[in-house]
Amino acid sequence: MAKPTATHEAAGVQRDQAKPAHPRRRARTRRHLPRWSELRPLLRPRPPQLHPTQRRLSRALTIAELRTVAKRRAPRAVFDYTDGAAEAERSRDRSREVFGRVEFRPRVLRDVTEVDTTTTILGRPAALPLAFAPTGFTRMMHHEGERAVVRVAEQAGIPYALSTMGTTSIEEVAAAAPEARKWFQLYVWRDRDAGKDLVERAQAAGYEALILTVDVPVAGARLRDVRNGLTIPPSLTLRTFLDAAVRPWWWANLLTTDPLTFASLSNWEGTVADLINRMFDPSVTADDLAWLREIWSGPLLVKGIQHPEDARMVVDLGADAVVVSNHGGRQLDRTVTPLEALPAVLDAVGDRAEVLVDGGVLSGADVVAAVALGARACLVGRAYLYGLMAGGERGVQRATQILATEIVRTMQLLGADTIAGLKPEHVRLRT
Ligand SMILES: Cc1cc2nc3c(=O)[nH]c(=O)nc-3n(C[C@H](O)[C@H](O)[C@H](O)COP(=O)(O)O)c2cc1C
Repeated sequence: MAKPTATHEAAGVQRDQAKPAHPRRRARTRRHLPRWSELRPLLRPRPPQLHPTQRRLSRALTIAELRTVAKRRAPRAVFDYTDGAAEAERSRDRSREVFGRVEFRPRVLRDVTEVDTTTTILGRPAALPLAFAPTGFTRMMHHEGERAVVRVAEQAGIPYALSTMGTTSIEEVAAAAPEARKWFQLYVWRDRDAGKDLVERAQAAGYEALILTVDVPVAGARLRDVRNGLTIPPSLTLRTFLDAAVRPWWWANLLTTDPLTFASLSNWEGTVADLINRMFDPSVTADDLAWLREIWSGPLLVKGIQHPEDARMVVDLGADAVVVSNHGGRQLDRTVTPLEALPAVLDAVGDRAEVLVDGGVLSGADVVAAVALGARACLVGRAYLYGLMAGGERGVQRATQILATEIVRTMQLLGADTIAGLKPEHVRLRT
């Protein structure tokens, strides 16, 4: 054993000196009975939240917590349709994980009392660098469906994109929120005339922009849907019947509101994958984009871009914006993550078009990171759908409030008081 050295001994002395005093010599804490005058200022009863949905929602502090509420409220097949992705769901998971690798580099001693989150998207103002992504079958998540989402977009001052696979018609959505910035999302159908008809209806109903989604030549393999036997409309099997027993309100709403059908497609009964494979055209090429550019004079976004060369091609063909997206991981599994694909797309496009990004955005800090790295804005899909499942329109409001609060706080802590002040120097990705 090593001999104790002088240093060890000195340390021993210090240890002895640091010994606690004898218990009997320790100072006694004097106690008295609590007095009402001291207790009263501590009692600050909060007004009870009477509305049960509001109560449930206000307890959710993050989108992840809204997801937990959503899981309890929606039937399993519905939750899985929304939450799930293709095959092993790696595209979805990685797109989320990459935001976990974001490392913020705050700047200090900047006045961030007031933060201005406004920006422009497609040349028009938006209150946040955010838009609601097109999502099909929204009335299945909650009977208030697309109307609820577009109304919240209107209140929040951000764009809303209605999907071709929506369950509320182009005109009904327009009527629900006349002041909202509305975009219509199109898939190219085998029947080009039917697609053209939708474009004309969107134009007539005052939709501002068209989004062409280009990452669905065929349906992705969403295995949760296959395992759950999800069909459109939902079918009553023994399993869904048992599920109904614990979620009676969802079923009551389904059965007492407008039949759950696709508003822009002729009646369909079967699985979503069969529908996609039957109606959408896998032979779509750049010529179809050129055709669309001819029939639509407003702003045109192309969504589902992952390669810089594709970004350059669609901008050459007249796209005003590209959305770097892997469809929330619902199409090809194991794709590059949109956040990591973003820099090369930005380089390819330069200032010829705006670049938006989606996939895995579940917090305001994610939005701030993507914008700092050069995105004009983020689209969110599941973030608002979890809110919708958790509590209809109120739930979408809660999701938006959570994201907006997080955006403001993150900007303040980063030392940026405007969206333009968010720079790549604020963010790096850990390897
Ligand atoms: C339930 C669901 C349905 C979707 N339906 C469509 C659709 O009809 N058209 C489309 O272009 N994208 C659709 N998407 C993809 C979204 O527009 C968006 O790209 C994706 O949700 C972004 O990822 P996030 O959910 O992680 O935010 C859908 C996504 C979800 C979750």
